[in-house]
Amino acid sequence: MAGRSIVLLPGDGIGSIVLDQAVRVLDAAGFDAEYIYGDIGWKYWCSEGNPLPERTLKLIQKHRIALFGAITSKPNDEARAELDPALQDRGFVYSSPIVGLRQYFNLDICVRPCRSYKGNPLNFIRRGSGNTIEEPRIDAVIFRQNTECLYSGVEWTNPPDNVYQALQSHPKFRKNFGDVPVDELSVSVRIFTKKATERILKAAFSYARENGYKSVTVCEKPNVVRETSGMMWKMAREIQKDIFPEIKLINTNIDAQMMWLTKNPEEYGVIVAGNMFGDIVSDGFAGLIGGLGFACSAQYSADGVAVFEPTHGSAPKYADYSTPIVNPIAMIESACMMLDYLGEKKISGSIRDAIAEVIMEGRVRTYDMMKMQGRPEVIDNGAVSTIRMTDEIISRLK
Ligand code: NAI
Ligand code: MG
Repeated sequence: MAGRSIVLLPGDGIGSIVLDQAVRVLDAAGFDAEYIYGDIGWKYWCSEGNPLPERTLKLIQKHRIALFGAITSKPNDEARAELDPALQDRGFVYSSPIVGLRQYFNLDICVRPCRSYKGNPLNFIRRGSGNTIEEPRIDAVIFRQNTECLYSGVEWTNPPDNVYQALQSHPKFRKNFGDVPVDELSVSVRIFTKKATERILKAAFSYARENGYKSVTVCEKPNVVRETSGMMWKMAREIQKDIFPEIKLINTNIDAQMMWLTKNPEEYGVIVAGNMFGDIVSDGFAGLIGGLGFACSAQYSADGVAVFEPTHGSAPKYADYSTPIVNPIAMIESACMMLDYLGEKKISGSIRDAIAEVIMEGRVRTYDMMKMQGRPEVIDNGAVSTIRMTDEIISRLK
């Protein structure tokens, strides 16, 4: 469809390498769009004191959809040291542009599908009965609330007096921490709102219904974290009963879920959790399907802004290799999620089929798929480059 425009945010390190590959695949698969590049990342922190310039926010505001590579973040002292000398001591403080994007556009729904490709040597295997080896097919889609919980940044070390007094008003605080000197206290607040909890739950249930999943698993800890996890579980029960009665609702605790990860991962379909447990459980499942080279994600706001990105970071170690070695599949899969979102399921299907064919055949593998250490020599030792892997996927498009 003509007239579609997409903001490309390469970012830092391998971000631009993998993003280029995704665009090559989109073009080759016949996806028609205009691409507009947006500035984001370390370079803009150093030169402008802002890794997420206003002009980039405006671009995304206008075009609504972005494909994002990855950015580099560094600790505060390094950030200060690398800032343009002309900008030093002018009050610039580094903060992650990813978190900035999430907050600015309220990208509260994060979706991380973890599906194993047949023939991927990195797939999880386990011992079956009689010394057999089982390779369960993983098809889990994690819905992670993306803006609240322990990541909302409401935290203090040595909390101010009004906060301290409020804490002292809670009987359990008084009993267990009441005698701790205030300057020895660090507090991070776990906040859940009804509105955002309802949105992530409904998104998970709707996805299950639309994509033929039979269950939704709430992965929290309601027996202990009774207010926040408890609210999510209670709302999940109501939503299931009132709107999605045909979908089975399962409750697992995050700790037990991580244990079950290696016992029965094939039994989970759609999983929904708050920000922190969603982060943990999605990384856990991603590990079963090949790790960072395969983990894709999408983030959505209520008013139609969507950002698609691989879960991995900028892998700066590998950014300057004359022949890039990283796996482009996580980025290409993220682009497929964008196509699904745009209703281009035929194109995304053909790209996923092409990836599946390449992986199944097993002739062409990036270094991670060969369990090699990432070094320039991997190419001489039989791994293919990022570009070659992309070429191979493109050659299989039908
Ligand atoms: P990372 O994801 O960049 O790399 C960790 C390791 O995973 C790499 O050393 C490499 O062995 C492997 N890896 C990553 N992507 C791969 C790919 N496509 N193919 C094959 N192997 C791959 O995480 P790290 O090293 O913790 O962080 C590096 C930088 O990235 C930091 O500055 C960090 O702040 C940033 N970061 C950015 C994220 C984002 O943009 N969404 C997410 C995570 C980290
Ligand atoms: Mg993570």
